[in-house]
Amino acid sequence: MEAAFKVENLCFKYPSSKEDTIKGISFDVLEGETFGLLGPSGAGKSTTQKILIKLLEDYKGSIKYFDKDLKSIGNSFYEEIGVGFEVPVHFSKLTALENLKFFSGFYKKNANIQELMERVGLWEYRNVKVGEYSKGMKVRLNFVRAMLNNPRVLFLDEVTNGLDPKNAKIIKDMIAEYRAGGGTVFLTTHLMNDVEQLCDRVAFCVNGRLIEISTPRDLKLKYGKREVKVEYRENGTIAGACFPLDGIGYNEEFIKLLKNGKVETIHSGETSMEEIFIIVTGVELK
Ligand SMILES: Nc1ncnc2c1ncn2[C@@H]1O[C@H](COP(=O)(O)OP(=O)(O)OP(=O)(O)O)[C@@H](O)[C@H]1O
Ligand SMILES: [Mg+2]
Repeated sequence: MEAAFKVENLCFKYPSSKEDTIKGISFDVLEGETFGLLGPSGAGKSTTQKILIKLLEDYKGSIKYFDKDLKSIGNSFYEEIGVGFEVPVHFSKLTALENLKFFSGFYKKNANIQELMERVGLWEYRNVKVGEYSKGMKVRLNFVRAMLNNPRVLFLDEVTNGLDPKNAKIIKDMIAEYRAGGGTVFLTTHLMNDVEQLCDRVAFCVNGRLIEISTPRDLKLKYGKREVKVEYRENGTIAGACFPLDGIGYNEEFIKLLKNGKVETIHSGETSMEEIFIIVTGVELK
């Protein structure tokens, strides 16, 4: 697969800060994949996204977009990308439809606004001023805005933050469909649920550095605890035992428990992405 983005030794310092916020990171985002940038608050995820979308230009290192130096590409770049910003910004005195029509006016290619709004459940509220929208409605509108130009690459910064599970699922389904149609997604998040469902590969960013780039499956294999937990009743109380998954069929103690014990539950000890996040970054999720 071709690299949509090839990032090498990227460093970036905000003018007001003493040290680099991004401290020499390298990664590829392949065309057609969903690439997740994960990490604790303040790690530099949004900064990285802002650099990739040419919002912050004064960086060191090299960024190629489909083999062209990002710095050499003009405004045509914006025809190709869709961006969902971390904090939704809309014109609050305009209606949702007026907002979307305004922004789609900037592009040569346009998606079907009604279809997108219907999908996220906002069509019936299209004539409501965005200032009267709830937080979750603004987040959904923000997503629609990112899709307005049928982008080739979609950037989404904390795209399901503040959504209830039903609406989060709608957005995640739309992202998965976009990817299935050949779209490339750069997703920034600290919601591990989104990662498991959407990401082909993830990179963990901590304090401006990337410390692990892998697939969710390989991470689970690498950090996973291969064990089986059994809960059983003994003398009227619940007891627990843990057995290694390898060679479980020959583990006499385990087999004895299954035959003779009053087993209540059995679980394989798969490590969740949450646990992996904590192991890799050393930071507890709130
Ligand atoms: N405009 C700015 N000027 C100076 N420092 C900034 C600016 N924006 C962000 N920073 C700093 O850069 C660091 C990285 O911020 P960034 O927003 O990229 O983090 P993040 O990984 O997206 O965090 P979160 O998960 O909270 O969104 C933080 O220390 C932040 O305070
Ligand atoms: Mg951020």
